[in-house]
Amino acid sequence: CWAKKEPIIPYIVGVFFLLCFFIGFTVVGYALYFYTYSTWKGRSIFLEDLYVMPEFRGNGIGKGLLCKVAEVNCVRLQLSVLDWNTPSRDFYAAKGAQDLTVSEGWHAIRFDGPSLDNLAKEAAKI
Ligand SMILES: CC(C)(COP(=O)(O)OP(=O)(O)OC[C@H]1O[C@@H](n2cnc3c(N)ncnc32)[C@H](O)[C@@H]1OP(=O)(O)O)[C@@H](O)C(=O)NCCC(=O)NCCS
Repeated sequence: CWAKKEPIIPYIVGVFFLLCFFIGFTVVGYALYFYTYSTWKGRSIFLEDLYVMPEFRGNGIGKGLLCKVAEVNCVRLQLSVLDWNTPSRDFYAAKGAQDLTVSEGWHAIRFDGPSLDNLAKEAAKI
C-alpha cells in the first residue's frame, strides 16, 4: 500500500489547505479543503476536492488523504458529490459518511452569473 510508504505534503494556498500525495516527484493525488463554521457545531471543514489519478486508484491513496484531512481539529467534514458519481459516493459511504440529501433533505443552493450580479445590484437599493 503506497499510502503507508510515501509522504503526504501539506501546503497552504490562500485560504485553501492542500495535501499532496507524492510518488517520487509526481503528485498522484491531492485533497483541497478550507474551514467553514457551523453556528450550531463550530469549526468545520469543507473538502472541495479529493482526487487520485486513475492509474493509482484502489491503493489506499484516497483513503490516506481523507484520513489526513480528518486529523485536523474540527467537528465535521463536509463535501458535495454529484449524483452520478457512484464510485465516489460509495467510497465515502464505505468510510462512514452519511448522505445528507437522503438523511436530512438538504438542497445545494447556488447564485452565480446573472443571479449573483442581480443580487449584488440589489445591495445598492438597500
Ligand atoms: C474517490 C477517490 C478519491 C478514491 O480514491 P482511491 O485512492 O481510489 O481510494 P482508496 O484506494 O483509498 O480506497 C480505500 C478504501 O475505500 C474503499 N473504496 C474505494 N472505492 C470504493 C467504492 N467505489 N465502493 C466502496 N468502497 C470503495 C476501498 O475498498 C478501501 O476500503 P478499506 O481500506 O476500508 O478496505 C478516487 O476514486 C478518485 O479520485 N475519483 C475521481 C475524483 C472524484 O470523483 N473525487 C471525488 C469528488 S467529491
